[in-house]
Amino acid sequence: MHIKLERQNQAFHFKAINEDNAEVHMDASPKIGGENQGFRPMEMLLAGLGGCSAIDVLEILKKQRQKVEDVAIEIRAKRRENQIPSIFEEIQVHFLIEGQVEPKKLEKALQLTKDKYCSVYHIMRETAKIEYTYEIKPSPEKEATPSAEMQWETLAIRTQTPRSHNREHAVPMYLTSSFVFDDAEQARAMFTGEQEGNIYSRFSNPNADELVQKMCLLEGAEAGHATASGMAGIFASLAPFLKKGDHIVSSRSVFANTHRILTEILPQWGVEYTYVSQTNMEEWEQAIRPNTKMLFAETPSNPALDFIDLDYLGKLAEKHNLLLNIDNCFATPYLQQPIKHGAHIVTHSATKWIDGQGRVLGGLVLGKKELIKEVYAFARRTGPAISPFNAWVLSKSLETLAVRMDRHCSNALKLGHYLEKHREIESVKYPHLPSHPQYDLAKRQMKQGGGMLTCVVKGGVERGRRFLDALKMLSLTANLGDTRTIATHPASTTHSKLNAEQQAIVGIAPGLIRFSVGLEHIQDIIADIEQALAASK
Ligand SMILES: Cc1ncc(COP(=O)(O)O)c(C=O)c1O
Repeated sequence: MHIKLERQNQAFHFKAINEDNAEVHMDASPKIGGENQGFRPMEMLLAGLGGCSAIDVLEILKKQRQKVEDVAIEIRAKRRENQIPSIFEEIQVHFLIEGQVEPKKLEKALQLTKDKYCSVYHIMRETAKIEYTYEIKPSPEKEATPSAEMQWETLAIRTQTPRSHNREHAVPMYLTSSFVFDDAEQARAMFTGEQEGNIYSRFSNPNADELVQKMCLLEGAEAGHATASGMAGIFASLAPFLKKGDHIVSSRSVFANTHRILTEILPQWGVEYTYVSQTNMEEWEQAIRPNTKMLFAETPSNPALDFIDLDYLGKLAEKHNLLLNIDNCFATPYLQQPIKHGAHIVTHSATKWIDGQGRVLGGLVLGKKELIKEVYAFARRTGPAISPFNAWVLSKSLETLAVRMDRHCSNALKLGHYLEKHREIESVKYPHLPSHPQYDLAKRQMKQGGGMLTCVVKGGVERGRRFLDALKMLSLTANLGDTRTIATHPASTTHSKLNAEQQAIVGIAPGLIRFSVGLEHIQDIIADIEQALAASK
């Protein structure tokens, strides 16, 4: 090493220059405190200690694969007063590290620096007690924070629980029933709601929160709550808002278990209902009474695939100051967003297209903040909580919902075109086929036609059953929204308890077959249906 000091003025202002021509200004004036605003020689020693330690610490952390975004070092020193020479007595080197750094790894790095590496430390510790302290500031997440400017597909992928110190790419599963408090004060503050944070997975969990946050962005909702199943969600969207003496107006074309809640459970508690048409909107206003609190509908309906005019219902709800509650399970938020049309609450069976692979159950209630507060309170008390595992699966599934739905929709449309030309088929119903009776509304309200399609096979109930038996690849199962194409025959299964007249009212012909069109190659889907139609004649 070779360092040259050049005197700059009469007041001992030196410029120190090393072999690489790097320079530093030094104030060696005899006047304590300095005159030339350069570093005093003893300060240079401290800076040297900080710099040298920093190099070692950062190198060790790098080897340990810790992510340091920034580092600042603050050094405080006490000198022996009234002693000549006045050397250091105590030195504190404080590291302020910004990044994703594990405290234990940093402590180890500091220890190694002291024990082994930092030469300046080794010299200076002969005369002074040197203490290393640190603070870690987690770096602002590099993950893009979801924002309203992002496209739907990006939000579905990039909405994620902040990374932990483990720097995971995919969010971890928080399989824990409860969460730990730092101290009694934090426990108190969290229970009173003064401080936000997870307490117990019956009412909050990071995986459930991520699913809810993502679904809120995708539906355009202010808030939400996730439940164990779609039915738990539907019940939680009704129960907090309907009390004894209240009345609800609902489309009669709702899912069978929603029908049971409306017609069997709620009436036990004094809540009245009126069923109205899915398609004749005039019936809705006529059914409203002074004690009506809510309008409820599913669109498109199951299995008839009939549409409700959401704009009409949104305006009706506003006019009569009613809550509009829409089950958006069939359409998914990718294809239709009822809140844009005036819905206050949107429910989902996430079990269907959102999971998309027939694995887990889940439900969601989304909507205005003040309404979701009530849903949350109801769910916190009654406990229809989603499992963290299911929430994790569902949130991951949302990442692919757009691409999956694009393919479900294009397969379904191709199948519709094929079936429309088939001699053994009486009729086909698919929202985005011009033959759909509400084609214009379906086009206006839904971005694409969805994955559900129905057709009526010639030959009534028995032909319908024979057709199902003849299928070789398509699945016969009580679900929908899977990668695998599913065929069902409502007249002999889900709706068999209704008589022929009741079945006709909800749009079920004896030979109606409902397809949940999957992601297999369309040629294979068609081939299986073709051979089953031939074999079941
Ligand atoms: C439209 C609709 N809503 C709600 C549900 C209930 O969902 P889950 O089975 O997740 O309880 C279903 C189930 O098939 C459905 O089709």
